[in-house]
Amino acid sequence: MALPKMVVRSKVLANELIGPLVWRLTLSAPQIAAVAKPGQFVHVRVMDSLAPLLRRPISIAEVYAAEGTISLIYRVVGQGSAIMAEAKPGSELDLMGPLGNGFSLEAERPLLVGGGIGLAPLVYLAQALCPRPVTILMGGRTKEEMYWQDIFKNLCQNIYITTDDGSLGQQGFTVDALDDILAKGNFDFVYSCGPRPMLAGVARLAKLHNVLCQVSLEDYMACGVGACLSCTCAGNDGKRRKICSDGPVFMAGEVLD
Ligand SMILES: Cc1cc2nc3c(=O)[nH]c(=O)nc-3n(C[C@H](O)[C@H](O)[C@H](O)COP(=O)(O)OP(=O)(O)OC[C@H]3O[C@@H](n4cnc5c(N)ncnc54)[C@H](O)[C@@H]3O)c2cc1C
Ligand code: FES
Repeated sequence: MALPKMVVRSKVLANELIGPLVWRLTLSAPQIAAVAKPGQFVHVRVMDSLAPLLRRPISIAEVYAAEGTISLIYRVVGQGSAIMAEAKPGSELDLMGPLGNGFSLEAERPLLVGGGIGLAPLVYLAQALCPRPVTILMGGRTKEEMYWQDIFKNLCQNIYITTDDGSLGQQGFTVDALDDILAKGNFDFVYSCGPRPMLAGVARLAKLHNVLCQVSLEDYMACGVGACLSCTCAGNDGKRRKICSDGPVFMAGEVLD
């Protein structure tokens, strides 16, 4: 049964810079914390005024249900996220959510693969999969972007890192390291979020190694609730999918080759 879409006023508890242009926003949102699943997102109204008009979709990165708090990890890329970065503790934000579907939690031996800010939803996924042995492969441009290590170190048994410039971990993209990791490990599920070319590579290799794979697509969105069709993508069966309400999490074979 579909849950009702909640709109809540949520108090900002903290809003801290954790990496280059990347912030962690901690919010009191007990109603959302109580029901949110890994992979779901909230649609944030960044201002009470009309500009910017649209809400901004941001993944739920951490959930502490007992405390009634959630956190969002976001990169400042434009007007909406820049306004979010100015939110001060004690102020309030209007959140709609949790929206979309979540990742399957059926894995026994999960491998998480994330690139850049796509690592954000994988934090809550790793939280939810614990105490199962979680392995993560994370990629970024430089070691300065690998503040994710601190976030994942208590959640994952094994951490593999790639950086584009080789300043930390293996030089190259996550997909360059993935074939070996899949060959060595005995994984039964791959979960991935990040740039679309990375997702396509992850899906291809997971299929090659015969491992189930889910991907989270982070595309442009407007309404966030399946009403406006601005977020659709092609499914492999010829039918269109709404990323906001049919996704953002899909079985890889549903939306990628
Ligand atoms: C389901 C979902 C979950 C997301 N989770 C996160 C998250 O956890 N953390 C995070 O930092 N971001 C996340 N995003 C992306 C985030 O929504 C956008 O970065 C944000 O809306 C940008 O708003 P803005 O007003 O700051 O930028 P805009 O002024 O709207 O855009 C600035 C620049 O960013 C580009 N851009 C904007 N939105 C997207 C997008 N969805 N995909 C690719 N490029 C985009 C624009 O083309 C433009 O170049 C998520 C998106 C979706 C759909
Ligand atoms: S954003 Fe409106 S249908 Fe998905």
